[in-house]
Amino acid sequence: MSAFIINGGRRISGSVKVQGSKNSVLPILAATYLVGGKSVIHNCPKLSDTNSTVKILQALGCVVTRKGNTIIVDSTDAGGYEIPESLMREMRSSVIFLGAIIGRMKKAVISAPGGCEIGLRPIDLHLYAVKRLGVKVDEEFGRLNCSVPVRLKGKKITFSFPSVGATENAILTAVTATGSTTIVNAAREPEIIDLCDYLNKCGADISGAGESIITINGKETLIACEHSVIADRIASATYLLAGAVTGGDVSLENADPIHLNAIIPLLEEAGCNVNIRCKTVRLKAPQRPLRIDKIVTQPYPGFPTDAQAPFTTLAAVAKGTSVIVENIFESRFKHVPELLRMGAKIKTEGRVAVVDGVERLYGADVVSPDLRGGAALVLAGLCAMGQTTVRNTLYIDRGYDDIENTLCSLNADIKRKVI
Ligand code: UD1
Repeated sequence: MSAFIINGGRRISGSVKVQGSKNSVLPILAATYLVGGKSVIHNCPKLSDTNSTVKILQALGCVVTRKGNTIIVDSTDAGGYEIPESLMREMRSSVIFLGAIIGRMKKAVISAPGGCEIGLRPIDLHLYAVKRLGVKVDEEFGRLNCSVPVRLKGKKITFSFPSVGATENAILTAVTATGSTTIVNAAREPEIIDLCDYLNKCGADISGAGESIITINGKETLIACEHSVIADRIASATYLLAGAVTGGDVSLENADPIHLNAIIPLLEEAGCNVNIRCKTVRLKAPQRPLRIDKIVTQPYPGFPTDAQAPFTTLAAVAKGTSVIVENIFESRFKHVPELLRMGAKIKTEGRVAVVDGVERLYGADVVSPDLRGGAALVLAGLCAMGQTTVRNTLYIDRGYDDIENTLCSLNADIKRKVI
């Protein structure tokens, strides 16, 4: 078990190269199995979730090599169709392999992902999508035995909610199906576009990615290619916030400012000056941030749920009262009790948090409740007076590539300690 020890109160300043996107690399690596052959994926962040994805690929029979931030997946001779339960449990988004495996093998055995730290994560929309395309799903003792009795055939899929994972599974299943598939109310996240860009480079025929209606004309064969993963918009937001909560001055290199369209206006509302030049985003913060009237999480292009917890820390030290509404996951305020231990004034009721900004947070011994909640606590530690211990770094390592050294390069005093 390791923890971050943070001596707070230093101005976070300097320039940082943004890591590749966690939510892109996972489905793209899964897609390499569907495509077959040898794919070369650049800009892969070093995350425990990336490692878990690699382990699944290896369990399926792929030869995976890593050179720096490039992962090469050779699935030429692979033929697995079952994901061991232990690997399914390691990373709940392993369900994304369902479409990739079924598309290639016409059968798949996975387990239903269990409960989760941020609320229930049902997979009914994933199953609805694959069933529409001709997959038969038999559930037995928590294992899902999936088969294709006749063939995968394109159909109209209408989602009741634009689930990111279900949209990705629908795309992966449809891409080699016979005929045309239309996904209505598809998720519009940039990571969906990135997945479709990779697949289209491999010869798929997908149009409309990034819009609510995606059309896929099935192709019998795909050919592996080289692809570079987009920048991580949540890591981008987190490092900008590190500047915002410490009166700092942070520049992101090779960010994608368009993907930050819902985030930058809120940083400006908090009194930060945000300057965009090509792929560089520079934030200069006031000594103390101002309150943000309302932070409401929505599917993309709305404000992302993954940035909600880090923004709670900003609201916690802002001048005035901010209101946060979490619309995507039902228990995503688990960082709040930990922030209260540091002196924050926050009341939650269901999906709403009312945050009365305090002048100062105080260092404390806190426990990371989940990935983004952990990032919120690291941010709190950076601006708190005194020393903060953030336990359970394993959650933070799921989504941030070397967060402690990145923050150290920005003038933070943060160390990882085995405890
Ligand atoms: C993805 C992201 C995650 C982000 C989330 C929402 C990845 C690897 N993870 O997760 O970081 O927080 O999008 O932006 O890309 N739902 C159902 N039934 C389903 C599927 C989802 O009810 O079959 C519900 C979920 O419980 C949740 C909401 O839909 O309340 C959003 O989930 P979804 O968009 O599917 O998120 P993920 O793909 O799991």
